[in-house]
Amino acid sequence: MIELLKEEDLDQVLEIENESFSNPWSRKNFLSEIANNDLSEIYVDIVDGEIVAYGDLWYMFENCDLTKIAVRKAQRHKGYGRKMMKHLISAARRRGCEFMHLEVNVNNKEALSLYEKDGFEVVRTRKRYYENGDDAYDMIRGLLGEEEPKKILAIESSCDETACAIVDEELNVLSSVVTSQIDVHARFGGVIPEVASRMHVEQISTIIKEAIDKAQVSMDDIDAIAYTIGPGLIGSLHVGAIGAKSLAFFYDKPLIGVHHLKGHIFINELIKPLQYPMMALVVSGGHTELVYIENDQSFKIIGTTLDDAIGEAYDKVARVMKEAYPGGPVIDRLAKTGKPHYQLPTPKVDGLNFSFSGLKNAVLQLVKKEESAGNTINKEDLAYAFQEVALNTLVKKTKSALEQYPCKSVVIAGGVAANSRLRELMKENFADHDLILPPLKYCTDNALMIACAAVHYLKAGKFVGFDASSMPSMSIED
Ligand code: KG4
Ligand code: ZN
Repeated sequence: MIELLKEEDLDQVLEIENESFSNPWSRKNFLSEIANNDLSEIYVDIVDGEIVAYGDLWYMFENCDLTKIAVRKAQRHKGYGRKMMKHLISAARRRGCEFMHLEVNVNNKEALSLYEKDGFEVVRTRKRYYENGDDAYDMIRGLLGEEEPKKILAIESSCDETACAIVDEELNVLSSVVTSQIDVHARFGGVIPEVASRMHVEQISTIIKEAIDKAQVSMDDIDAIAYTIGPGLIGSLHVGAIGAKSLAFFYDKPLIGVHHLKGHIFINELIKPLQYPMMALVVSGGHTELVYIENDQSFKIIGTTLDDAIGEAYDKVARVMKEAYPGGPVIDRLAKTGKPHYQLPTPKVDGLNFSFSGLKNAVLQLVKKEESAGNTINKEDLAYAFQEVALNTLVKKTKSALEQYPCKSVVIAGGVAANSRLRELMKENFADHDLILPPLKYCTDNALMIACAAVHYLKAGKFVGFDASSMPSMSIED
């Protein structure tokens, strides 16, 4: 995620600075730049807690100087340089600059070609500009006259979160607002569909208004309206659909119906560029799927659950242990101090499919047996046993999937992607791939994910009409 440099990021930035430049800046230089934030901005790109790139802009009236752009040595050639450049260009344009200027060593062919790709042109040569006698090119890029990136307003209401977000097609996030009904449903031990629909109706208008206000845009600035068309609870989906259709009808905007799980997948693009072909392990309350993604328009389910979804199994096991809904985070926490003590059977399913109901029933039987023998269940140990079996199954199947369908990127998506042990196992097992783990705040349902996916629908010209039906059990292949 790209954000402004903070003092605590400086150690990492200095590492990159020292490996990238022969005349590196000192900590003092950076600190004075941070202090001088009216005239300059340093942005850092943070992926999994590591700064992978940074860029520095100096503002001078209508001109803007790109004084530095650097990518960590071990992370080069993965698209982070261009991602940062795009971000800097948008930032300067939003600030009202007309030009961006930079200097580059004439012998640095790699940087030159990157800048040319991004629209910079050489305007003059500075002789012996560098200490070693090398010449520099002055390069300039205009920022006016280009079309503003298109903006999408997206609505998510498929389950128990009502959310609205606005992003532009270059994935700059203008706003994202989410309200969760989880406290209400927790009282019933699960999501009650009728209650969920009713609460969406109560929330949706306020949430949309808040997203528009936060983004400081008007409806005239919005180029398309997106919403979750499926899968999800039918009543909940309808509320989002009606909201989106009303806006599209009244303001005469195209309408985009987004598949919820594509949202969980494409939000990872806010972290880093996706590389195709890509494998997505989709793990949520309603789905457990291995999806082979050849390009952004081609999705193939190569493995799915034959019964319960993984998140559902977590929730049910938590209920057996008399723990609150949603059970996933509870089991995640309990398992951290659990020890190998209880034995649970590993699900046996051929190929790439999954099954979790046997495992869930085994937990139920074990609890019954222990209780009737007068023993107290050690919840930590039981959570540990369940989680190790369930998550190792996911990892094993993902490994087999990658043997059959070699991929560059591997992503996890959906609510269960927040699980700390799953994240650990993914890092241990897929370090040889471009592994993308969404930050925790992106794992639960939100509208930013729908907006990120909608960018791909918009680019492909995939719109829906006012007669589009919501689809509670829509497949990602549709
Ligand atoms: O994707 P999501 O927010 O909603 C659906 O589209 O289903 O996923 C919700 C599921 C719930 O079953 C919840 O228990 C599970 O994600 N979950 C977790 C964790 N956080 C949420 N499961 C395991 N570990 C977690 N930390
Ligand atoms: Zn979801």
